[in-house]
Amino acid sequence: MKKVKLPAHIAFIMDGNGRWARRRFRPRGYGHKMGVQNMFKVCAHCFHLGIRIVTVYALSSENLKRPKEEVDELFDLFRTYFSRKKEKMFELNAKINILGDLTALPEDIRQMLIGIMEDTRGITGNLLNICVNYGARSEIVRAVNAAVSYGRFVDENSFKNLLTTGGLPDPDFIVRTGGEVRLSNFLLYQAAYSELYFSHKMWPEFSRRDLERAIEAYSARDRRFGNVREENL
Ligand code: IPE
Ligand code: IPE
Ligand code: MG
Repeated sequence: MKKVKLPAHIAFIMDGNGRWARRRFRPRGYGHKMGVQNMFKVCAHCFHLGIRIVTVYALSSENLKRPKEEVDELFDLFRTYFSRKKEKMFELNAKINILGDLTALPEDIRQMLIGIMEDTRGITGNLLNICVNYGARSEIVRAVNAAVSYGRFVDENSFKNLLTTGGLPDPDFIVRTGGEVRLSNFLLYQAAYSELYFSHKMWPEFSRRDLERAIEAYSARDRRFGNVREENL
């Protein structure tokens, strides 16, 4: 890969599993299975390249409204990778943080997710945030309610700390696969100045080279944060 400016924090909207599978005349669940495998591959490559914070959108709160059969398949995949094959998570050598409303999940899954956070708590260096039953609007509303319950006014800094991402830096770069050009309720507050990248590749086929191409595109972006470059004054 060319010499590039890396994002400190990269986030992925891992979309397109279902369509990828259906185009191959396979059930949607097969797409999710291959999608999880690709998540490990892409996250490992991010860490290998030197990106220290990775956030993945694994399940939105709205996704729970899908047909029960698909939701159950997704839950079974969680059972596989957070319990039976959880060594796959440890292989990433990252601290794992789960973001989202865990209360609405089946109890065994909730416990597994809490367990993986505890098991990886001591790992320093790499951080992987996995968004499960996550929705940005409800995250913001929850933060507002927390502020109200403390009876305090907030400023931008103290408000940020009430969000599930807490003191983490905002994502520098958000990559969405699957061809749709929208955020679908992902990190709406934190994405204020994120660079966005949309790939036509479906998530299971998003390769290491695709990731590198995306990072090269990021590296060429001029992030101005509302300011003006000197040469354009
Ligand atoms: C993304 O793939 C994974 C989840 C939302 C759980 P989709 O399941 O949305 O796949 P498409 O968009 O239908 O192809
Ligand atoms: C976003 O994808 C959520 C995840 C990738 C987990 P969706 O497939 O749910 O988004 P929409 O419905 O196309 O907006
Ligand atoms: Mg989708």
